[in-house]
Amino acid sequence: METDYPHKLAKKESKGVKMYDWWQIPIVAPSGKERIGYPTQKPEALLQRIIECASNEGDTVLDPFVGGGTTVAVAERLRRGWIGIDQSVMAIKVTEMRLKKPQRDLLDSPFIVQLHKYDYDTLRYQDAFEFETWIVQQFGGVPNSKQRGDFGIDGKTKDGVPIQVKRSDNIGRNVIDNLKSASERFDKTLFEANKAAGKSIGIIIAFSFGKGAIQEVARLKNHDGVIIELVTVENVVPIAKKPKLILTCNDLGLNAKKLREIEFIAVGESESGIEFYAWDFNHEVENGFKADVMIDKTGKQTHAFKAGSYKVAVKVVDNEGIESVEVITLTALTSDEIKK
Ligand SMILES: C[S@@+](CC[C@H](N)C(=O)[O-])C[C@H]1O[C@@H](n2cnc3c(N)ncnc32)[C@H](O)[C@@H]1O
Repeated sequence: METDYPHKLAKKESKGVKMYDWWQIPIVAPSGKERIGYPTQKPEALLQRIIECASNEGDTVLDPFVGGGTTVAVAERLRRGWIGIDQSVMAIKVTEMRLKKPQRDLLDSPFIVQLHKYDYDTLRYQDAFEFETWIVQQFGGVPNSKQRGDFGIDGKTKDGVPIQVKRSDNIGRNVIDNLKSASERFDKTLFEANKAAGKSIGIIIAFSFGKGAIQEVARLKNHDGVIIELVTVENVVPIAKKPKLILTCNDLGLNAKKLREIEFIAVGESESGIEFYAWDFNHEVENGFKADVMIDKTGKQTHAFKAGSYKVAVKVVDNEGIESVEVITLTALTSDEIKK
């Protein structure tokens, strides 16, 4: 087994000397690069040893007490599938941020975060295929594994009834008519059987439905004996409001290293209460939020900047795991530049 444990005993291991204590791995240093601030954080080398002992590439690793996400971050790096569970919102959100931050050798494979509640924006701007798959599963159905084809059907109920997902609001009449013909072509026998039994021949899940769609569903039922079920996303998963967030900053002047120190103050507000804040001091919108500080309970930070322009982003997470992000742009000047 090839490993790179930092402990000197481990070096002898490759020469055939047994370790005195198999688990002898140093703790994560308080100011070490690996430290993310989660109180019970374990060293990656420890989890690497356990995962390599107990699984092969492609296997799935489960940590039902995922905490700061060390197990799943290491499992990802070692090309394992993984599932992480935790009762704590902070654990789930910190693990998510950790996996989204670029790390050495960390693959960028997609993953899904499952919470108790969701906000509209997060769902609406998710990748379309990911959203369709996820919402069909939340509804108790089986998602279509193909991204295209199958007459635009995104999944089926356990009884085979076609489900179509629309990631938009105010769905119109044409969507209803299209589903009726798609359902008929998808499985004619099932369509006829459901129609004869007075059961739904198809289900549409969307953020909301327009008057035209509702009237068309009624018309099809009354005139053709065809039942189409309209389901809003909110009927499937609970939706919560995003927390309010205000970000302000104060210039504290130059520090001893001639870097400009800025104090940031974030104030979040949510009915469920604020869990924590996280900070990205060199935010690049196209790369998303990459946390420099992952766990801040106070909402106050001081950061020193070299001369230049920066976007600073703060994220607030409430007690239900719903988050908001605020970004400010600032230009840091050194004293020399001010003289010029
Ligand atoms: C010691 S930490 C986890 C450390 C993590 N496995 C690692 O390797 O770094 C324990 C975690 O278990 C979570 N926990 C405790 N009781 C739980 C429960 N009944 N269900 C889910 N998570 C729970 C806590 O919130 C905490 O994050």
